[in-house]
Amino acid sequence: MTGAVRASCRLAVSARLPDPACVERLRAAGHEVIARDDPEPASPEALYSLAKGCDGLLCVAVDRIDGPFLDACPSIRWVANFGVGVDNVDLAAARARGVRVTNTPAVLTEAVADHCVGLVLAAARRIVEGDRLVRDGGWRGFQTDLLLGLDLTGATLGLVGLGAIGQAVARRLVGGFGMRGLYTQRHARPDLESSLGLENAALPELLGRSDVITVHVPLTEETRGLIAAPELALLRDGAVIVNVARGPVFDEQALVAALATGRIRAGLDVFADEPIGADHPLCALPNVVLTPHIASAAHGARSAMGHLAVDNLLALAGGREPPTAVV
Ligand code: DGY
Repeated sequence: MTGAVRASCRLAVSARLPDPACVERLRAAGHEVIARDDPEPASPEALYSLAKGCDGLLCVAVDRIDGPFLDACPSIRWVANFGVGVDNVDLAAARARGVRVTNTPAVLTEAVADHCVGLVLAAARRIVEGDRLVRDGGWRGFQTDLLLGLDLTGATLGLVGLGAIGQAVARRLVGGFGMRGLYTQRHARPDLESSLGLENAALPELLGRSDVITVHVPLTEETRGLIAAPELALLRDGAVIVNVARGPVFDEQALVAALATGRIRAGLDVFADEPIGADHPLCALPNVVLTPHIASAAHGARSAMGHLAVDNLLALAGGREPPTAVV
């Protein structure tokens, strides 16, 4: 059900989109558009004032769309999320109120996989530590054992989640770098195992056998805290773990404690509570590479995400089924 459709709708856009043509498309379709032109995330109050009285909202990962928000903005019938993850939206609350929700899958897959591989390389080959050493004037010249890292070729990759992004990482690291591949996934994918060169393993086995672990599961009640102290204790010495999914998939305190031992290295694009500041314990650790939730932040991917969110909103406003509906 897309709800009753008017010729012209009132649509809110909660953040500045990388491609200005996105908002222009909404206006060109005859809708009234109230768009924030601010690179900073909207406060809950600002989001509420923006969305109040609107039929649809194009929102981003940091906007919390829950029952109280939907009750405060009862005119909202469509929520088009800019992003594939929809953990910022209470889907049950939306469903209960007849609010349709869409996301932007597929268009960011390759960009996120690229960034994931970047974090793997940066952590495995200690690229950021090297950069810091040079900038800080601490480099004394070539040394045979300076910043030794992990050989990727022949090492074992463990993919936690084999959706589109996990598969794209497998193509790069197993197909391209010659790693051996393991994966864990709620429903095994025997159909992909030979083409991607992967073997299915339960999570504990995967964690114990892998040199590099990359995480690609959505945040749900089932995956919250999936990787906590007992799981981190299974990692091999020198293992590299990378998270480009959602911060709360890890028990972040346990991750900090494991990193503080110096036994493992990590690359993180997402955190339990974003943004983190310079006083966060992770920032004091040399063996973790940190990026500010930018895995999909390539020009083409972010532009395509904006346009897909607009396609969804225009379809809903026009009484049609949106291309990528979640609810
Ligand atoms: C996504 O698409 O889920 C990214 O994390 C941006 O929200």
